[in-house]
Amino acid sequence: MKHDARNPLAAVIRQLLAGSVLTLPALACAAGPGGSFQPTQVSATPDRNAGLQAFAQIERVLLHARCLNCHVPDGPLQGDAKRVHFPPVQRGADGKGVPPLQCATCHATRNSPLAHAPPGLDTDGQPGWHMPPAKMKMSWLGLSGPALCKVLRDTRTNGGRSLAMLEEHMATDHLVAWGWQPGPGRELPPLDKPAFDEQVRQWIRNGAPCDTREPLRTSAGPTRAAADEALLKNLRAIAGSGALTQTKGTSNGSQP
Ligand code: HEC
Ligand code: HEC
Repeated sequence: MKHDARNPLAAVIRQLLAGSVLTLPALACAAGPGGSFQPTQVSATPDRNAGLQAFAQIERVLLHARCLNCHVPDGPLQGDAKRVHFPPVQRGADGKGVPPLQCATCHATRNSPLAHAPPGLDTDGQPGWHMPPAKMKMSWLGLSGPALCKVLRDTRTNGGRSLAMLEEHMATDHLVAWGWQPGPGRELPPLDKPAFDEQVRQWIRNGAPCDTREPLRTSAGPTRAAADEALLKNLRAIAGSGALTQTKGTSNGSQP
């Protein structure tokens, strides 16, 4: 194994050397038996125009209030009119708010049956409502067309996601799914969920184009599970499988 400064493993190894083993069990879970998600492959004969048309449909959803209200540069927006959130709350470093106004203070594990009450959703029994973190805001506000497309597609602005990971997120993420189950008094996005998922597949199948000139993508890249599996494999090679088994078994009490 080469020692390469750009290798993402370097960070994990530094943590290992510093005695922090929390990353390992987390990775072991993430790479466990995954869902049934099958990523769309890029066609051998991609059609740029079909891809651009598909993105135009994706864009209508991304810029709709149900998605945009969280994908903003500052505090969240509210309602179909995308007005400033009342009360004015802050994102916080992790996107979960700043005490005493953490998102979970008001946003519970399910939507309220009452209009204009805070929406909610369940993540492993906890309130999962939050926005992207401060260090990667994933903001789409004020963007459209190629500029929006590139922010969505670029791993430096999309949370390090390959096309396959983007597709998986849009197809399976519960915050995305919430957009189509927003509770009373909130408009639905302009495409239904199966139609949206199909446009995402069409865009990727046709090389994920953002404009009329740039080269088309030829591969959708790894899924999250495949990337985690590769990382684990490398870690095992470095640390030895014994070290992994050991940290897995002893970490329970030390999780934050
Ligand atoms: C309650 C807030 C919230 C809502 C509503 C929301 N998202 Fe997100 N979204 C997030 C968070 C948080 C992340 C970051 C997840 C991560 O990387 O850990 C994210 C990340 C993403 C990403 C990957 C990053 C990127 O910029 O490419 C996509 C794609 C995405 N969301 C699509 C949507 C779509 C489509 C909708 C509407 C149907 C939507 N989101 C609604 C909070 C939200
Ligand atoms: C003091 C209570 C409170 C706190 C704290 C709070 N919210 Fe809200 N939020 C609300 C209420 C109430 C609504 C519904 C307003 C309406 O529909 O008119 C709402 C709505 C929203 C919506 C709009 C949903 C939609 O599509 O219309 C978003 C996005 C949102 N909150 C994000 C957040 C985030 C992110 C945090 C934490 C950083 C947060 N909220 C913290 C009370 C709160």
